[in-house]
Amino acid sequence: MEAPELDPSVLGELREVVGADHVITDDRRTSYEVDWTGRFLGATPAVVRPAHTAQVAAVLDVCRRHAIAVVPQGGNTGMVGGSVPLSGELVLSLRRIDRVGEVDHAAKQITVGAGATMESLQQAAAAAGLRYAVDFGSRGSATVGGSIATNAGGVNVLRYGGTREQLLGVEAVLGSGLVVSRLGGLVKDNTGLHLPSLLCGSEGTLGVITAARVRLVTAHPHTVTALVGFDSVAAAIDAVAAWRSSIDVLDAAEIMLNDGVLLVSRAFGYPLPFEEPCVAYLLVEASAHDDPTDLLAMAVADATGVLDVAVARDSRRRGLLWRAREEHTAAINTIGVPHKFDVTLPLAGLAEFMAVVPSVVREVEPAAATWLFGHVGDGNIHVNVTGIAPDAAGLDEHVYRYVVACGGSISAEHGIGTAKARWLSLNRSPDEMAAMRAIKHALDPVGILNPHVLFD
Ligand code: FAD
Ligand code: MLT
Ligand code: ZN
Repeated sequence: MEAPELDPSVLGELREVVGADHVITDDRRTSYEVDWTGRFLGATPAVVRPAHTAQVAAVLDVCRRHAIAVVPQGGNTGMVGGSVPLSGELVLSLRRIDRVGEVDHAAKQITVGAGATMESLQQAAAAAGLRYAVDFGSRGSATVGGSIATNAGGVNVLRYGGTREQLLGVEAVLGSGLVVSRLGGLVKDNTGLHLPSLLCGSEGTLGVITAARVRLVTAHPHTVTALVGFDSVAAAIDAVAAWRSSIDVLDAAEIMLNDGVLLVSRAFGYPLPFEEPCVAYLLVEASAHDDPTDLLAMAVADATGVLDVAVARDSRRRGLLWRAREEHTAAINTIGVPHKFDVTLPLAGLAEFMAVVPSVVREVEPAAATWLFGHVGDGNIHVNVTGIAPDAAGLDEHVYRYVVACGGSISAEHGIGTAKARWLSLNRSPDEMAAMRAIKHALDPVGILNPHVLFD
């Protein structure tokens, strides 16, 4: 795809705002034009990198006046084709706005620039003896602004909720040019509509987030991680259902299947956890003031279908257990460009869903391989399909209709992006769609922000 040319005078205006060094029109655009999976490849006339909120506002002003569509981009680790210029949009990169503020110990809060990586936020919290609760495998590249725009979930939703639950305030430039800023961090502040909640999960369609105030949680002195092997998926899911109520200090519960663990082992030389393979594996983590190891051990002892267990308390060995899970995404990418479904199902129907969905996929793509893993504690399963054409629209419809028929959501944590815009109406009513379009139009009347995201 050829990127459309921008009028030299417009380029001139943009250079005036951010400086010539921060308007990229040469080959350096490439990494901004393709997504992490390699499935979504676009082309942009220019990548513009503002240094602060006022420059973001001025860039959007230029774009509004010349009706230039814009894709806001953070770490470009998104999974739904929302962060790349698939229709020749200008890319607005937020990575320069990466200041990490001082930790407010009294309030257990911090203010960070939208371009700061999740990891830098987590490190600032840890250095202050606290913790930022949202965590996931792309932490080294994903940005705070991108995590808010996607309402990212990750591995600790089970205990702390997702990004929206951590969000106390944002600073953002709306598509209309309005600049909203509320970073005071008052926990009780019922002064009208809660714009941070609205912008969280809006996927760059309503405004460009430039800063955020987030809450931090206690970093507990004791953390234990266990990998538990089961003789069936159903037994693993029953165990999670029980542990969610019996272990109130449970941070994470992740599921993997044997083929995924084998794939990670083959792809990255990861040592297989147990002598004998298991059908399903649960990776669970608990943290507390008092060592939760015994609590976890009792819960595992009460579970049925357990074949093997590995427990770790020191961070090196805990990291090793987490590798099996965290490297699924990269291992699957070594096979080819995956077709990714990120769905939520009611826990009661999850075992059946996991048993049936591979055959649902094969009804449309007989030669496909299906890889299942995910945040089982939240009912969130990642269904990755390989061995098919990247844009298998027939497969999307077939799988999403099955998910909806099972009472599920077609997007658990990755968002809708461009990949699922066509199917959003399967999960949202015509009135909900109309209400969302009305909000979009009100906050971005010219329609410059991510015009192909969310709405088909
Ligand atoms: P980008 O990819 O750059 O953008 C994502 C979307 O947000 C786009 O629509 C973009 O336009 C918009 N956007 C970005 N920045 C801004 C901004 N400042 N203002 C307005 N809009 C903006 N996600 C999860 O939820 N849970 C996981 O467990 C998880 N694990 C992952 C593991 C791996 C290995 C990888 C590669 C990805 C994973 N992801 C996960 C997906 C991804 O990392 C998240 O969606 C993340 O929040 C994206 O952040 P980003 O900065 O890379 O955003
Ligand atoms: C994960 O949990 O690893 C991610 O959300 C990424 C993926 O779906 O591959
Ligand atoms: Zn995930």
